[in-house]
Amino acid sequence: MLSTPILLDYQSSTPCLEDVVDSMKPFWSEIFSNPSSKSNLAGINASAVLEVSREKIQEYLFLQKKKVIFTSGATESNNLALLGFARNYYKETENYGHIITLKTEHKAVLEPLDQLRKEGFNVTEILPGKDGLISEEKFISCIRDDTFLVSIMMANNEIGVIQPLKEISAICRSRGIILHSDYAQCLGFLKLDSLDSVANMLTISSHKIYGPKGVGLLLIDKDIELQPLILGGGQEFGLRSGTLPLPLIVGFTKAIEIAIFNQKKNIEKFLFHRDKLLKGLLFNNSGVEINGSMKKRLPHNLNLTVLDINGSKFHKSLKSKIICSSGSACSNGQPSHVLQALGRTYKEAEASLRLSIGLMTTTEDVEKSIQIITDTIKSLR
Ligand SMILES: Cc1ncc(COP(=O)(O)O)c(C=O)c1O
Repeated sequence: MLSTPILLDYQSSTPCLEDVVDSMKPFWSEIFSNPSSKSNLAGINASAVLEVSREKIQEYLFLQKKKVIFTSGATESNNLALLGFARNYYKETENYGHIITLKTEHKAVLEPLDQLRKEGFNVTEILPGKDGLISEEKFISCIRDDTFLVSIMMANNEIGVIQPLKEISAICRSRGIILHSDYAQCLGFLKLDSLDSVANMLTISSHKIYGPKGVGLLLIDKDIELQPLILGGGQEFGLRSGTLPLPLIVGFTKAIEIAIFNQKKNIEKFLFHRDKLLKGLLFNNSGVEINGSMKKRLPHNLNLTVLDINGSKFHKSLKSKIICSSGSACSNGQPSHVLQALGRTYKEAEASLRLSIGLMTTTEDVEKSIQIITDTIKSLR
């Protein structure tokens, strides 16, 4: 009998927690009215639920200076932040200014910035060091007089490295540059201080934190102005028209509450399993190299390149036993642009594994995975 594969791909998505599913139940067919229909009592009730969710999120994330905008996920949030801010900047200044980002950002940042390049803006993609991290010196050297926007992710979705965002934020603040950060992989995985001071605009996704798919957040400083991308009924402060998915928003709010409440305990669990996995793989196999800094890294992420092996055969052999990835969930099977930016060849990038631990991962999963990966490497060498 075939056993079910071990899931080590929790950075691509997570299952909804039972409490999250329960929290959504009344909002599918009991309290289902449109929160924008304020002319009737049912709509007013739905709107009250929406606003309570918004207030809870402000409370859980210690937000005092930020507007909470609901979106369909991190991709939309990144698009709204980058296209919306840059286009508004042009409208106000009639200048196509300069934008800075990293070569290793998610495509949901790089693609909207490519679009802005086509519209006339100048975009610099900084190449991080071999450890995946950007230095303050390198960042400062890329700033120009007309730099008005920076987008640097807090933590990388493939190699898990955590950028020095506090320092970057201070540099941006001192020069009047707006900072956006893709925080999609971070909530519940990094010790949380108030998100108010992390960046001027922050992207968060629900399905990365055991919430439902199809909902996300863009948090922006209250004085930031954006050009909306979706026009219509003027929901979400006129920034994102469309009827809001109340069940998803309620579930997402619950997922945030649980993630924040349990983060200390969860981080310890992730670190325990991740370090055991790493130790086992390095101990059993030669020619396995770690990608990205281990010091500044998300607790549930591991990214390894197996040298002298055929990457596609490797992934094919693992497929029925372990669910993992060779790059981002959204890379359509292409070898990772992140690993190649760090200096890996196309072939090395193909022969790489992103392994991500989740809340449901057990010690047995970790031990079995070490054995499976080790046996697979041996059989292919
Ligand atoms: C860093 C990062 N940004 C953006 C996204 C896209 O998120 P969503 O699926 O919520 O649109 C992902 C998902 O893989 C991600 O990891």
